[in-house]
Amino acid sequence: MSRSLKRLLVAGAAGFIGSNFVRHLRSTRPDVEITVLDKLTYAGNLANLVEFEGRPGYRFVHGDICDVDLVDSLSAETDAIVNFAAETHVDRSLMDPFAFIETDIRGTAVLCEAARKHGHQVFLLVSTDEVYGEVREGRSTEDVAFRPRSPYSASKAGAEHIAWAYAESFGLPLLVTRGSNNYGPYQYPEKLIPVLITNAIDDMPLPLYNDGSAVRDYIFVEDHCRAIDQVLHEAPLGKVYNVGTGVETTGLGVAQAVLDIMGKPRSLIQFVADRPGHDYRYAVDISRITALGWEQRVTFAEGLERTVQWYVEHPEWWRPLKSGEYWEYYRRNYRPLVG
Ligand code: NAD
Ligand code: DAU
Repeated sequence: MSRSLKRLLVAGAAGFIGSNFVRHLRSTRPDVEITVLDKLTYAGNLANLVEFEGRPGYRFVHGDICDVDLVDSLSAETDAIVNFAAETHVDRSLMDPFAFIETDIRGTAVLCEAARKHGHQVFLLVSTDEVYGEVREGRSTEDVAFRPRSPYSASKAGAEHIAWAYAESFGLPLLVTRGSNNYGPYQYPEKLIPVLITNAIDDMPLPLYNDGSAVRDYIFVEDHCRAIDQVLHEAPLGKVYNVGTGVETTGLGVAQAVLDIMGKPRSLIQFVADRPGHDYRYAVDISRITALGWEQRVTFAEGLERTVQWYVEHPEWWRPLKSGEYWEYYRRNYRPLVG
């Protein structure tokens, strides 16, 4: 089965995964017309999309997914929505939960309503494995109950509940992906891997919460984007797909690997106070996306090498981001060292 989508509204594509998704789509499906809608929050960056500016079949609209009139008019001109737009950083959600509730839940509702009104072919919500909450044992299949534990993950769970309600009540043609931890080029330097790499470049301490033992499933962003593309074009409507690699890595393991690749001493690692409500393990069952024909192409070792190299070669991209408000956030977040 292959769905033909000609005019796509991609919300939140000035961020990390969305911009990589646009890059992926431009090369694999150059005929698809892409409209990007992005509010350009601190995490949105036009530099991520500069190569597409002025190209046929691409346009950027600066705006908010909570803006009902704007979303309505853009939805009238498109056939499908892929929603990446969200507040995404767990630590920031502990400082300002309401921004997450507004964009992640209300913004998703505004998009669902417009997609329904204009009879869109598909609405794909980019969700997260964090909706399952901490997974002490085993792996989350798509059917297990949500147990979000942070304002971020609760907001993403809320977004999903709204979208599923639109599917049930109004027949919204919904697809959902629940991705694990992405890493790769263009990731804002607040998430673990770009914090570690950019700090290591500057010989700054690499902060690990508590003892660095929390486990994540790290997926290279291109692999995630390929999965979203495949679900968007091939999956039966009304389905949800976990997307991950099945490989588990601790924070300490990531920090050591970064330092080894860069030839820097492990003494740069510093254990800092824990994140409140820290989820110590996520683990998804990926049999459903695998059955759709998707598989991981980039191993963690290869992806991390490529990512380190990208940050080393692109200081003009990340250095301007690590200034002003960034350091205010950084000082507030990284509390006194423990141990
Ligand atoms: P990001 O923080 O890098 O980018 C988010 C983008 O959304 C930014 O460009 C920002 O300007 C935009 N945005 C925020 N509020 C908006 C609003 N009200 N209206 C319009 N645009 C708005 O995020 P990311 O890491 O690229 O994540 C993208 C999506 O994927 C999110 O929905 C996130 O929950 C989900 N996700 C992320 C990961 C991950 O590891 N990063 C994993 C699974 C799922
Ligand atoms: O699982 C998917 C989710 O992954 C996405 O939905 C989120 O948008 C994304 O932010 C990410 O959430 P995490 O909280 O897992 O990612 P983060 O990079 O913030 O943290 C990864 C792990 O590293 C986690 O156990 C906390 C730890 N950590 C993080 C930072 C920023 C540290 O030890 N030190 C740090 O400085």
